[in-house]
Amino acid sequence: MSKILVNVALPYANGPIHLGHVAGAYLSSDIFVRFQRMHGNEVMFVSGSDEHGTPATIAADRLHISPKEIADRYHKEHLEAFRNLDIVFDIYTRTTYPEHRDTVAEFFMDFYQKGLLSEHTMVSPFCPTDNRFMPDRYIEGKCPNCGFEEARGDQCDNCGKILDPQELISPRCVLCGTAPEFRETKHMFFRLDKFQDQLIKWLEGKDFWRHSVLSFTRNFIKAGLKERPITRDIEWGVPVPLEGYEHKRIYVWFEALLGYISGARILSERIGRKDYWKEFYFDPEVKMYHFMGKDNIIFHTIIWPAMLMGRGEYNLPYMVVANEFLTFNGKQFSKSRGIGYSVDDILKLASRDYVRYYMSSIMPEGSDADFSLEEFQSRVNGELIDKFGNYIHRMTSFIVNNNLEITSSKARPDDQDREALEFANERIRNYNSYMEKVEQKKAMGEWLELVKYANSYFNNAQPWRLVKTEVDQCISKLYHSLVLAQYCTTMLYPFVPSASEAMMERIGAAKFSERKFTVDLLTMDGSEFSPVKGEPPFEKLSLIKENPNFADLRIGEIKEAREHPNADKLYVLRVSLGDSEIQLVAGLRKHYTAGDLKGRKIVVIANLKPTKLRGELSQGMLLAADDGETVSLLAPIEQDLNAGDMVKIGPYTYNNSGKIDLEKLRTLELKVESSGERVIATASLDGKREEITAGGQGITTHRAVKAGAQVR
Ligand code: MF3
Ligand code: ZN
Repeated sequence: MSKILVNVALPYANGPIHLGHVAGAYLSSDIFVRFQRMHGNEVMFVSGSDEHGTPATIAADRLHISPKEIADRYHKEHLEAFRNLDIVFDIYTRTTYPEHRDTVAEFFMDFYQKGLLSEHTMVSPFCPTDNRFMPDRYIEGKCPNCGFEEARGDQCDNCGKILDPQELISPRCVLCGTAPEFRETKHMFFRLDKFQDQLIKWLEGKDFWRHSVLSFTRNFIKAGLKERPITRDIEWGVPVPLEGYEHKRIYVWFEALLGYISGARILSERIGRKDYWKEFYFDPEVKMYHFMGKDNIIFHTIIWPAMLMGRGEYNLPYMVVANEFLTFNGKQFSKSRGIGYSVDDILKLASRDYVRYYMSSIMPEGSDADFSLEEFQSRVNGELIDKFGNYIHRMTSFIVNNNLEITSSKARPDDQDREALEFANERIRNYNSYMEKVEQKKAMGEWLELVKYANSYFNNAQPWRLVKTEVDQCISKLYHSLVLAQYCTTMLYPFVPSASEAMMERIGAAKFSERKFTVDLLTMDGSEFSPVKGEPPFEKLSLIKENPNFADLRIGEIKEAREHPNADKLYVLRVSLGDSEIQLVAGLRKHYTAGDLKGRKIVVIANLKPTKLRGELSQGMLLAADDGETVSLLAPIEQDLNAGDMVKIGPYTYNNSGKIDLEKLRTLELKVESSGERVIATASLDGKREEITAGGQGITTHRAVKAGAQVR
């Protein structure tokens, strides 16, 4: 039995967790931890909320609440989302905890005293309009590396390159659009350059890492490591324990990484074993694993190990695992663009077992993976249910219906049975070695092979014939069928824990918590089973036809508004839907000037049958709320959505069912309802009131209208 430390990148508590995050790190790490525990290892599993820095202030600025409120809200939401997915950390810490602040101060001062920090004057973007220094993330512009237009001042989301805001081509302030000035300001720098040789040496033993992680890291080091500023001109963050730095804070990455250590310390306090964390950080036998999405690699393969080297005595990461990206129908998951599902949304459609199963089977390990509802449904129904669930159901029902008592002492393995066990043994050995290397998709492939094999083993044995003529042989065959079922169920457990627990009960074997996984399965382990009868264990997924959302709602951007030549209440609008444009006729002349409309982001129904209104073509309809006094266009809460972005009703995106007429549209009973300080648009779908959202945010009105107002 050995100790293993598993640290997972602390997600920013600044927006909902979506499946892209889950696929990037959280599910993989949970699977890994469950696998290790199944083998009797003692694991400490640490993550938490990364609450400081500009990611939090940007969200706070947008929603007009404090960064602390943002963090409180999303910390709670993330915890719940992980729990709902059976992702169970030993500690889910927060970087706003005082213990974290203390740990950071301790490291910072240690580095300071050892000469690992140096002070430099640097130039930072200063927005003359907002009259303050702007964090790198508040500057956007064109990426000098790949040409992406919306690169941030700290990193390009398109090519992953770490950037300085000064490198951006035509930089602008995200708050006001002004081009920033670059002014001088003092900061502390971490002497990363001092660790170049040590890091190269440390990486020598890491050939078992995924190639992409290793080569990315080596190339980064080869380019030469430079000192990195680790303080910022910002108000929200961990204070800098130095005079003259009262208005500066420690750079969010530099302190968040230390959340692994402060988290472990907090856990130790909580369980009443103050020094427990030391057993993981100072015993060189303990292996430290890190999980993260690929945009986090260099922080974990360069900066973090350098920090640990600088501090001295601490273990260095043993393995750094980074998954690639998950796409949704070919597009990158994006909270702000409304592409893909948040954890909450997907769990409204399917159980956590199904979500975990499908996500595991497409895990973006070697390359990006694509999530599609069609494949989700077919993998779950065709594999988990038809192959695995039905096998166990058929077999256990047969045993119970025939009142057979199956015990290991009655097993008489023949050649075929021995072959079956050997086959299983080989699958399990491969499975174990894949799981150790965190090649989970491949491990699942071994599981699926064994499940298929077990099905044919059972079918070939034909117990329904044997039971009439040769009961002893029948019992022996069923015993082996149960053993195979137990192996399959055990192998599935890290991926789909709660369904596996239920299947273990079904075959009447000891619970996972009460048993140890034996690797050497060729020796009969004398398992005893008492199968129980039950309903078919899994309900089939029928996502595709169940999506009731017939309304193709989209974010539109008004490009032009002109007066209708033949009607004095109407405008003729040209509206962009991103990759196409439509013309709408709207009765807004009493409520908006043409200038008011131009450039506005609105919500459009794009699959309404086209009609002519007084001679002008209208290819859809825009949505506006009317409380009898005020008329307001519906609008996304944040303005960072793009024309063409999908708008959801509840968890549902448009189901592609074709054009509809006005009468059908009316069945949605669109209206706005109060939600906190604002109103939120809702629709009635299948008899249920659902919120209308885009990019994880509600759709509201930009003018105040009374709650209850009709939308038309
Ligand atoms: N919050 C970062 C992100 O979501 C990850 C931070 S990892 C940490 O990309 F260890 F530094 F916290
Ligand atoms: Zn500005």
